[in-house]
Amino acid sequence: MEIIKNYDLTKLNTFGISVRAKFFVELNDEFSLKKLFISPEFKNNEKLFLGGGSNILFTKDFDGIVILNRLKGIKILEENSESVFIRSMGGEIWHDLVMFTVNHGYWGIENLSLIPGTVGAAPVQNIGAYGVELKDTLENVEAYEIKTGKKNIFKKEECEFDYRYSVFKGRLKGKYFITAITLKLNKAGKGNTDYKILQEYLEKPARTADIVQSGGNKIVSPIGLRPREIISPRIISDAVIAIRKSKLPDPLLIGNAGSFFKNVFLEKQKMKVLLEVYPEMPYFEEPADAKAMSGKEGNIKVSAAWLIEKCGWKGKRIGNAGVHEKQALVLVNYGGATGEEIKNLSEQIITSVFSKFNLTLEREVNLI
Ligand code: EPU
Repeated sequence: MEIIKNYDLTKLNTFGISVRAKFFVELNDEFSLKKLFISPEFKNNEKLFLGGGSNILFTKDFDGIVILNRLKGIKILEENSESVFIRSMGGEIWHDLVMFTVNHGYWGIENLSLIPGTVGAAPVQNIGAYGVELKDTLENVEAYEIKTGKKNIFKKEECEFDYRYSVFKGRLKGKYFITAITLKLNKAGKGNTDYKILQEYLEKPARTADIVQSGGNKIVSPIGLRPREIISPRIISDAVIAIRKSKLPDPLLIGNAGSFFKNVFLEKQKMKVLLEVYPEMPYFEEPADAKAMSGKEGNIKVSAAWLIEKCGWKGKRIGNAGVHEKQALVLVNYGGATGEEIKNLSEQIITSVFSKFNLTLEREVNLI
């Protein structure tokens, strides 16, 4: 374990913002944590735990210590005829874990294919896509308390998961370092293909590859649609990858951090009023149980991408920062943008959405 001074973070954040950290350390094994916790650089400085750097916007140099989680290892802990428990260390790339489960034919996280970032960061914001969230399969989270250096295992219920939220983003923000997670996946299933875009994609004529994957013993229907029986974790994963690639920019080619804003939650009455003025406004009704409602105004989810697009921002560029041309929720760095430039753009978007719709957009990305 080596603590490096004045470290360049450009390659460690997917926005590609050029900033430096006063101290930097890469953690490759759990034992080094003890040493790190007692080091003066750690004890006396502000700390930032970094995974894939895919949900962060640096607006200035970081005057503290950045700890990069590189703890590796994916292991099947136990299994029975129905389910399997998989433990993954936090420094694994999230998509590699998804591929591990898809290769084994296990159901549960195939819809979360190609989400950038690491496993350790996934529970912090309860990553979600195409009708599935991490909390649906998460069993527990292993984390070290920074103050005491003690290890804690948080059961799912203790994580207080919600839409793009967990206790690690709220009450316990900055207090724990996540080292591993355990998932409970199903050996048999039918997957979740309810999300409209995914459903439409899967209903397109089956490709030969799908038929081969099913063992060749299921025949495609005469009109060429994929029969439900040949749906597999692999087929869903492939579909999600194709959809994401067609809409979301690759951070290796153009700096971005996925959705920059969260979708907006409203109560029914407010939605009704909005629909009178904007009957075409897309919205989705989410379950309204008390727990899922914490911190939200209501259970009607309005597409933030649509609001931003309607304000004329989609595809717009200001200096080196811009709004992606295919997904208005995604802000991009065309090259050389500063964090301040991207932050300013996000503030202009928030202001214009507020003045047009009287709705307040919240950032999903963490500002440092
Ligand atoms: N839409 C627009 N304009 C756009 C894009 C979308 O009007 O530019 C509208 C369309 O009506 C579309 C609807 O928004 O039907 C939903 O769009 P999409 O399926 O792309 O999903 P999203 O709500 O915009 C969320 C997540 C994404 C995730 C997708 C798919 C948030 C903040 N974002 O976006 O997550 O991939 O659903 O499940 O919840 C991320 O968090 O980084 C991320 C990419």
